[in-house]
Amino acid sequence: MWLTRILSLMSRRSPSPSSPDRPAKRQRLSHLTKESFKNGVFLAPMVRSGALPTRLFALQHGATLVWGPEMVDKAMLHAERVVDPVTGVVSFNGKSRAMFTTHPIEKPYLIFQIGSADPDLAVQAAKTVMHDVSGIDLNCGCPKPFSTHAGMGAALLSNPDLLCSILTALRAAMPPEITVTAKIRLLPDQADTLKLVERIVNTGISALTVHCRTRNMRDRDAAMIGRLREIVDFVAGMGKGIAVIENGDCTSWEDAKRIREATGAHSVMIARGAESNPSCFSTSPLKDVEQTLAPSYIRLANYLENHWGLTKFCVAQFKAQHLSIKKADAKLFREALSRAKSHQDPVLDSIYAPDALSGEEEMRLIVNAIESRTETSFRMVLPDPSASAPADPSPSVESSEKLDDTLTITPPGTQNPEPPGTGAPLLPANELLREVPALVSGKDPVTPSPHITDLTTAA
Ligand SMILES: Cc1cc2nc3c(=O)[nH]c(=O)nc-3n(C[C@H](O)[C@H](O)[C@H](O)COP(=O)(O)O)c2cc1C
Repeated sequence: MWLTRILSLMSRRSPSPSSPDRPAKRQRLSHLTKESFKNGVFLAPMVRSGALPTRLFALQHGATLVWGPEMVDKAMLHAERVVDPVTGVVSFNGKSRAMFTTHPIEKPYLIFQIGSADPDLAVQAAKTVMHDVSGIDLNCGCPKPFSTHAGMGAALLSNPDLLCSILTALRAAMPPEITVTAKIRLLPDQADTLKLVERIVNTGISALTVHCRTRNMRDRDAAMIGRLREIVDFVAGMGKGIAVIENGDCTSWEDAKRIREATGAHSVMIARGAESNPSCFSTSPLKDVEQTLAPSYIRLANYLENHWGLTKFCVAQFKAQHLSIKKADAKLFREALSRAKSHQDPVLDSIYAPDALSGEEEMRLIVNAIESRTETSFRMVLPDPSASAPADPSPSVESSEKLDDTLTITPPGTQNPEPPGTGAPLLPANELLREVPALVSGKDPVTPSPHITDLTTAA
């Protein structure tokens, strides 16, 4: 096993420049366009959980694009940009800590999300990061009081003039190769939602994500994906070629396919499913995450000098099916994690297999996987429903553009033996029933707080 992994590592290294058999270099994305937001399965913006190592693992395992955690505009204005000469990690540092970290390898796929209630501040924040990202997204959906009381997040949904002025300012200030997008929630009324969508699309954005819950809905309320098709058709009717991205209750590649077929959405975005398992984008996501993903994550995070509290928080969220490890072993792992005080704490030694890769080797695997991608890698192209009926009427993953096998990094032997897609939401049979919990719940916030407080509290 040790030898196999090292050999696989070596075989992924670039051949020497003099090698006559060197394969032609694959074409890489130069910059994103409206089309880049179509046929994708994306990592959602997640404060804390969307940390750099999570985004890198998501890309390694098939996420088409990744959104960074929301950063409030003001926080970025005085950030100092520092590049680590060894790892290449780019940090935007505040007074006491890095507020946002990225790595150049993710830049072609990285969307930076801003929380803002002011066009000028949003533009300044976007300018601070624009050389390190491919797109800027405006958060118009966070229902948490820390966001809404300042007029940001979901508060923008009831202030469309301000919302649109921020998007317009961003579009005007950003160079054309930087996309500008928005992430909204549904309004309680569908006609109001369409009016808002029309205004947003007219600002010149490249894509629109719709979290199919209203501001007052909780995560446990089923996403109202039944409302999305009308929005998709409406945006298509505007003729601007804008992608509509579904968000809400998708947990896997198979779910994404079913949701796209049910809603007509161009792409799907996954949040909590990826928080539990950043490899959920793969057609064969990792199982036994305590033994597979978690050790790799901790080593990579250590190499990238991720904050330990953040690493610990992210790893503690991991959850997946157990195939070969016993419950008792998973429990031992969680106990070790909760006792650990740093990435290198000896209490963690027991979680590593003797052949475990170093953090640098993990990074090299990820870099090689990402560099091997082409513009069509990890795209989910569905059959055109308007085309004549296919020979095989039962849609399967083969009918989508399948992941390039050579690029599927999930190790063999970890296939899911169960029928996939069990978590996919069905179209609501009764919209009113779906609405009830939201109406009852009043103004309960949905998005978890970004705990701007000291991250070490997670340690
Ligand atoms: C831990 C966590 C942090 C989140 N942070 C953000 C954020 O920074 N920006 C944002 O627009 N949404 C944020 N969300 C909301 C998600 O992006 C997504 O809209 C929501 O979880 C629904 O998707 P899901 O059903 O796949 O979880 C967050 C969600 C979670 C679970």
